[in-house]
Amino acid sequence: MNDDIMTPDSNLTEPTTKKRILTGITTTGIPHLGNYVGAIRPAIQSVQDSDDEAFFFLADYHGIIKCYDAQQIHDSTRAIAATWLACGLDPERVTFYRQSDVPEIPELAWILNCSCAKGLMNRAHAYKAAVDANMDKSDVDPDQGITMGLFGYPILMAADILMFNATHVPVGRDQIQHIEMARDIAGTFNHKYKPLFTLPQAMVDDDMPLLTGLDGRKMSKSYGNTIPLFGDINPQIDGEKLLHKAVMRIVTNSQLPEEPKDPEASTIFEIYKAFATVEEVEELRARYLAGIGWGDAKQLLFDRINDEIAPFRQRYNHLMANPKELEEILQMGADKARRHSRKQLDKTRRAIGIKPLAKLK
Ligand code: TRP
Repeated sequence: MNDDIMTPDSNLTEPTTKKRILTGITTTGIPHLGNYVGAIRPAIQSVQDSDDEAFFFLADYHGIIKCYDAQQIHDSTRAIAATWLACGLDPERVTFYRQSDVPEIPELAWILNCSCAKGLMNRAHAYKAAVDANMDKSDVDPDQGITMGLFGYPILMAADILMFNATHVPVGRDQIQHIEMARDIAGTFNHKYKPLFTLPQAMVDDDMPLLTGLDGRKMSKSYGNTIPLFGDINPQIDGEKLLHKAVMRIVTNSQLPEEPKDPEASTIFEIYKAFATVEEVEELRARYLAGIGWGDAKQLLFDRINDEIAPFRQRYNHLMANPKELEEILQMGADKARRHSRKQLDKTRRAIGIKPLAKLK
């Protein structure tokens, strides 16, 4: 196994020969097909197929760093929770919680702030990119529009991870630096005080399909080119129709129906691959070469996606219409999470010299 995983001297949970997986989802958007294929489906599958311990959480305190729209934060939290549960996340098996329901996390973040070098944060890509963008403008302060939240983002993320002594953190490529910073922050604390924190590892899946969006660019909320997964925050909107409409809008070239087409240059084919079996993919490849019409290809893609997600959509709609049920599940997750986090924070506070002066009673 990995000998660079340091086991902490804590009995927080059993000694960790097991993997402990943890990942956070920032609550600023409504899940789309790219999120499903790239993050939700693989994460749920990987815990189903293993006996690893798993912690998945809604990172709402990270959400407010980049979004000041209270309604959007709230709606996104609800939609993300409903989506993950609808897609099969078992809240008995996985500790599934909302970051803000675990007050020990921001408390730990403050403590880590106090031993983390400012210089480490100066090197964070997201912060540097924001400064560089300001430097390109004349007469603008390099830190214009940059909040302390953005600057300290990696420290809150370190607290998320170190709180539960996670060993493996599944993330996208853009987050690798943050995991390295969490290791650095853990190492500094462990050295200054005592070895309380496990050094986490980033888990990046190189085969993870990155979907192309409606316009041919990478599917991303910021490009406005996404295919919705279940629908909208508004339960009146028919998710299946919305999916159909979006699939029909995928940009193609102007080749005529009978012309042979290059499957590898087609967004429809690429997305189909993320849903279909090997045989189905080969069948569609043959039809491309034989000259399938774009309309038929789109219909085939829609049917294939819909077959997989229609049962999940039903559950999603149910959960979205019953926020009490969602809230109960999240509270159960928070209870589970806090059983760990209270102990870990208590140890941390004692390690830095913050503890009761005497036992009362
Ligand atoms: N920053 C992560 C992202 O944008 C979300 C996140 C917050 C996270 N805390 C985390 C991911 C802890 C992994 C572990 O994707």
